[in-house]
Amino acid sequence: MAADSLKVGVAFNTHEPFIYRREKVSEDSVAKVAEIVCQILNQSGIEAILIPLQRSMFNFLRRIKELNVQVIVNLCEGFFGNPHWESNVAAVMEVLHIAFTGNGARTLALCQDKHQAKAILSSFNLPVAPSQLITSADEIVELRFPMIIKPNSEDASLGVHPESVVYDRWSLAEQIKRVIATYEQPAIVEEFIDGREFNVAILDDGEPKALPVSEIDFSTMPKGYPHICSYEAKWYPDHLLYQTTCPICPAKIDSELEARLQTIAVNAFKVMGCRDYARIDIRMNDSGELFILEVNPNPDTSLDAGYARALRAAGIDYADFWKLMIGNALKRKEGDVTTNDRR
Ligand SMILES: Nc1ncnc2c1ncn2[C@@H]1O[C@H](COP(=O)(O)OP(=O)(O)O)[C@@H](O)[C@H]1O
Ligand SMILES: [Mg+2]
Repeated sequence: MAADSLKVGVAFNTHEPFIYRREKVSEDSVAKVAEIVCQILNQSGIEAILIPLQRSMFNFLRRIKELNVQVIVNLCEGFFGNPHWESNVAAVMEVLHIAFTGNGARTLALCQDKHQAKAILSSFNLPVAPSQLITSADEIVELRFPMIIKPNSEDASLGVHPESVVYDRWSLAEQIKRVIATYEQPAIVEEFIDGREFNVAILDDGEPKALPVSEIDFSTMPKGYPHICSYEAKWYPDHLLYQTTCPICPAKIDSELEARLQTIAVNAFKVMGCRDYARIDIRMNDSGELFILEVNPNPDTSLDAGYARALRAAGIDYADFWKLMIGNALKRKEGDVTTNDRR
């Protein structure tokens, strides 16, 4: 299909209050990314239209049909304020044969459950931090201190704060209680990997390829704070923890470490069934062992976030990246033998 006849819908979910969600900044950023992607595509000669997913899935689908877009750039991170429905949005488009960019429903759902994702990764001999899924503070945790406690099925550092890293049983129980009560889901308790943190962005142009590695520089963080990317560090630019967790891309690492990180990340991408793009978070302990923290199948693609930074480091233009993703989505639709006009 000629690029000039293409009509693209840029879909994003709008925030609706969800009972336990106190942290809101991360939710608001998706609308901004959608606007930028739309603008950049239009500037590069591809007609793109914003399609918000608001309270009604029917209205969203009706809009896609009315506008007659051939492909959706899917930036939805949930539905109706519920991030756990991120994969359901993709699933609806799948069954309706709507071509869309980014990961499919199954991968989005698998990666959202950190405990299950880690079980898959380790079953393929990929390294992950020792962890336990905990549903009550009474359960016995058989891991070594220090530990970190996170909600099992959130992202964007939601629920991760400096006090999430614990050194004694009392604080461990407190954090488990806090996570379960606030996020209404099990907590994942992991051994704290004290060391360097890397992010590896993967781009799939037919074959998944690792982009230049990024590292979080914790060297200026004040004493007493654990070296982590907490919610404060990710979302509050005027916060000391934000200012002292600067990403460096490309990371200053030797080629051997770079190759190890990139190989692990590409393998993680493959075993989780990823496609198009994803970002893998990895920590390294003092002995140089690497541990995958998580696979992000729907990473923040805004211009000031890690994925776009890695694209820049690789010399890949942001508009070209989205054109490549649109091309991937259209190819998938062409190759889908079950496609007919059931829409
Ligand atoms: N086991 C761990 N050891 C050390 N730091 C961790 C560990 N788990 C999480 N962190 C820190 O917390 C941050 C958020 O955790 P992550 O598992 O990536 O969840 P999210 O989905 O919220 O990004 C990481 O970027 C890292 O700084
Ligand atoms: Mg992460």
